Amino acid sequence: MSENTTPETPGEPDATAGSESTGVTATAATATATAEREVLVDARGVKVHFPIKRGVIFDKTVGYVYAVDGMDLQIRRGETYGLVGESGCGKSTFGRALLQLEELTEGEVDFDGVDLATLKGEALRKQRQHMQMVFQDPLGSLDPRQTVEQLLLEGMRAHNLVKDGGATERLAELLQAVGLPRAALNKYPHEFSGGQRQRVGIARALSVNPTLIVADEPVSALDVSVQAQVINLLEDLQEEFDLTYLVIAHDLAVVRHISDRVGVMYLGALVEEAAADDLYSRPLHPYTRALMSAVPVPDPQVEDTREQILLAGDLPSPANPPSGCRFHTRCPWRQATRCDTERPELRVVQIDGVPPTQRVACHWAEQIASGELQPHEVSIELTDPTDTASDRNDGLFGPASVTEAE
Ligand SMILES: Nc1ncnc2c1ncn2[C@@H]1O[C@H](COP(=O)(O)OP(=O)(O)OP(=O)(O)O)[C@@H](O)[C@H]1O
Ligand code: SF4
Ligand SMILES: [Mg+2]
Repeated sequence: MSENTTPETPGEPDATAGSESTGVTATAATATATAEREVLVDARGVKVHFPIKRGVIFDKTVGYVYAVDGMDLQIRRGETYGLVGESGCGKSTFGRALLQLEELTEGEVDFDGVDLATLKGEALRKQRQHMQMVFQDPLGSLDPRQTVEQLLLEGMRAHNLVKDGGATERLAELLQAVGLPRAALNKYPHEFSGGQRQRVGIARALSVNPTLIVADEPVSALDVSVQAQVINLLEDLQEEFDLTYLVIAHDLAVVRHISDRVGVMYLGALVEEAAADDLYSRPLHPYTRALMSAVPVPDPQVEDTREQILLAGDLPSPANPPSGCRFHTRCPWRQATRCDTERPELRVVQIDGVPPTQRVACHWAEQIASGELQPHEVSIELTDPTDTASDRNDGLFGPASVTEAE
């Protein structure tokens, strides 16, 4: 059956039916509660640089793609952390690095207090059970030759979770949890609609009793009408199974509805991080403000008066990132010459009413918020994406990447 011939829900049990959770954002109380929870994932100074090789006979490294370039991010037990940013800014690479699916160039990831880099072989395999991934394209991530039953059993067997008496009960539990009928067990991935397939992908991740799920664009391939159902399902499952989520998305609306905290990424690093409500009500980094200003507001009066910041140019190549503040080539508040020469730290800002949980990587966050600095025209700087080393030796390069360029 094709996508078109299998309707999303009519007549089928739906774990999300009646959910009240759509559109509920984190309150100040939940933000405080989140801040007090213990840290489950602690990523410090994480860098993932992919070598760019050239040469017919000898593979010569001619540069690096600085996909992740100095990420510090903590995820607390039971929270949902939303990670947003433009395509190519390094979100997926970071998610994969957390799960040790990408080798770290530098930095450390601790999971439940254990440095994952110290785990090898069986110990790493065991650890992986606790960290699962849900992908954007379930069709691409599920083996088309396996039935749902085989797909679910495969992961469980790999972690010795299938008992002698079989796993019938467990399989039924999993299907019920994700709102699929029992008959789904004998079907193949292509027989489901997009939303149902994503439910299979989620069931597969759940089958090994994980603690953390990294959901990489879990709803971006789905129809808008189905997106809310899958988001609600993720929220319900979090409560039922005590899950911690890292939800990666380029769509700010998706992340807003599900996240306790949100991190905004630009060219390999966080530029702002805050409780979801704080970030959406008062974005402070120029890049976050630009992203927010691109989201239309349903109220026409608000829509007419809201701030609109058009981002000049495309995301620069991560193989040749701008010096200093990575955002300076597109920033309407750029100031000479500090913005071009000094990479800003993600820091607590001194602005009335802004909690210390909202951190911003901008030298001028206070002056921009007060209006002391006003935006100006941005002239587009063209960078050569093939030039991987042009600004490495001119003394202007920010501190986070200087060592790996050699
Ligand atoms: N294995 C790899 N080798 C070389 N470059 C890579 C590799 N994987 C990713 N990249 C590059 O690293 C950068 C970041 O990629 P990544 O997929 O993490 O971005 P993303 O934020 O997830 O983007 P999207 O929203 O499109 O999924 C991109 O420029 C990408 O081309
Ligand atoms: S540091 Fe400068 S270039 Fe970067 S966001 Fe702030 S004002 Fe803009
Ligand atoms: Mg991605």
